[in-house]
Amino acid sequence: MPMPLAVLVSGGGSNLQSVLDKIDAGCIDAEVRVVLSNKADAFGLERAKKRGIATWSRPHTEFSSRQAFDAEMVRVIGDHGICSGTGAVLLAGFMRMLTPEFLRAFPEAVLNIHPALLPSFPGTHGAADAAAYGVRLAGCSVHFVDEIMDHGPVVIQAAVPAQPGEGADALAARILKLEHCIYPQAVAWLAAGRLKIEGRHVMVRRSHPATCGNADLPCLVSPALEPGFLPEP
Ligand code: GRF
Repeated sequence: MPMPLAVLVSGGGSNLQSVLDKIDAGCIDAEVRVVLSNKADAFGLERAKKRGIATWSRPHTEFSSRQAFDAEMVRVIGDHGICSGTGAVLLAGFMRMLTPEFLRAFPEAVLNIHPALLPSFPGTHGAADAAAYGVRLAGCSVHFVDEIMDHGPVVIQAAVPAQPGEGADALAARILKLEHCIYPQAVAWLAAGRLKIEGRHVMVRRSHPATCGNADLPCLVSPALEPGFLPEP
């Protein structure tokens, strides 16, 4: 059975789209059952509706506490048949910390994509912070979510060269292109039962050492992307 997924978004949802596209292409054995947001105008919700996927959105400010908002999301996700053990939750630009109660409902089954090479530049402006710092290598990370921001065990990372004076937007755009490769790849591994967490380390069964990208998108990805997930030339 395809792994049932819930996806949480607060914005454009391009990472959600990248996962949906790879599901359609037959590269991920999963099904997005519901997309949730704390922002009614999140474009990610439109992407879901367009594909007939159920959506739920409520401003978190309507709830008496962070716990109450998360408890409602746990209920909605459960109502769509996404349970601990068989399903998973993807954060795709969801701009809120999850409570321990939420994480306990889906142990080792919540993934996040972050636009920086963790543990460098956690937080809301990862790519911009890396650009401002003047790093020569930037990138993105997919990690399991724990109670600390952008902190859980790392599944896959991709690095891109950063140009001095390039500007945050240009760097973020190149990073986003790679996010759209590594997030679907990580989800495919999760759905296929190929990920095992051992402390801070994530074992990816049958994975290969890091690979380099192509001339249009120079990058270093570790573990290697598999066919179907490589950047377009
Ligand atoms: C991405 O850069 C992601 O890494 C970060 O938020 C952004 C979301 O973009 N967590 P989108 O909504 O998926 O287009």
